[in-house]
Amino acid sequence: MGMKETVLEKFAEVFGDSEGVKVYFAPGRVNMIGEHTDYNGGHVFPCALTIGTYAVARKRDDRKLRFYSMNFDALGVLESSLENLKPEKEAGWTNYPKGVMWAFGEKGFEIPNGMDILLNGNIPNGSGLSSSASVEVVTGFILRDLFGFDVTNTDLALIGQYSENKFNGVNCGIMDQFAIAMGKKDNAIFLDTADLSYEYAPMKLENAKIVISCSNKKRGLGDSKYNERRSECETALSEIQQVVGINSLGDLTEEQFETYKAAIQDEVRVRRAKHAVYENQRTIKAVEALKNNDVELFGKLMNESHVSLRDDYEVTGEELDTLVEEAWKVDGVIGSRMTGAGFGGCTVSIVKEEAIDRFIEQVGTAYEKKIGYAADFYVVEIGDGPVIL
Ligand code: GLA
Repeated sequence: MGMKETVLEKFAEVFGDSEGVKVYFAPGRVNMIGEHTDYNGGHVFPCALTIGTYAVARKRDDRKLRFYSMNFDALGVLESSLENLKPEKEAGWTNYPKGVMWAFGEKGFEIPNGMDILLNGNIPNGSGLSSSASVEVVTGFILRDLFGFDVTNTDLALIGQYSENKFNGVNCGIMDQFAIAMGKKDNAIFLDTADLSYEYAPMKLENAKIVISCSNKKRGLGDSKYNERRSECETALSEIQQVVGINSLGDLTEEQFETYKAAIQDEVRVRRAKHAVYENQRTIKAVEALKNNDVELFGKLMNESHVSLRDDYEVTGEELDTLVEEAWKVDGVIGSRMTGAGFGGCTVSIVKEEAIDRFIEQVGTAYEKKIGYAADFYVVEIGDGPVIL
């Protein structure tokens, strides 16, 4: 049975019938390079995946919201209402779709009807492949489709981010929602987060594939650490702004940073800002390399990105470092780094096809031996943005 049939059948079981429903999909994402640059006015280079969130939805005649997730069966149907939308601990995962509905309201889009919504995601939970942004974008996509709101896919990304910042309290940048809303098969998106200008770049990897290694370490305190990094960068920026007129760390070249870094009053903040500046420049170089069909150089820059995230930005941890450092030892690995926020989640590697089995075997064994539990591996494909199925 295909995913569409599965979710339709479950919808009918949970909500009594599936009259008047439509089925939707929004992808997850993986970032190839450009990490922790999106809230620093820098560049990112993510792509949408063919795994993501499937949703079944229909309008109701009243203002009620009924939600069901096949990923959290034990929670059953969670009810809410369009009146007085606010984040509630007991609402669990439904705070994401509720947040998006609230955000539409804030942006002046009045949602006239309640809805029944069922979700089923095949993005591994807590993996750092943006299952929450995928839920946000699919929700916005549903609202646009059901109520005819005049919003672009970029707007869907911005509304998703707004809801995550203001409703769910994570100060994330625009990368995840943008990559998901704007995804294009076989392409990564070279996005300048300073002005949201972007360009698609084909991920021509010849005889290699993208392999995601999931550490299975839950992010735990990740969100608060994330917000902490963000404010460290903001402080560093304001210190540099005392000596030079820039808008964001993304405005600086490496040389300029070396000239102005003395303005930063704290050694830790110097390293945080250094990462933001150098990672942005690395991302620009990596896309250039890809355009020149220099996948080797692209991989080398991925490796440098990891080192910077490990030593200067300090968002990796033993699990992600083990996955990456073991990957580097495998013959046929072109590049490997942590991806996403860090503090757990997963790594992304470019691996020659002939080396994939060896990679999984070698990295998997070494990881389990050192960390004490297993990692999971996924060979992924780059897919499109949200669609109606
Ligand atoms: C998370 C955030 C993104 C981005 C990455 C780090 O995925 O949601 O906005 O900051 O971390 O690159």
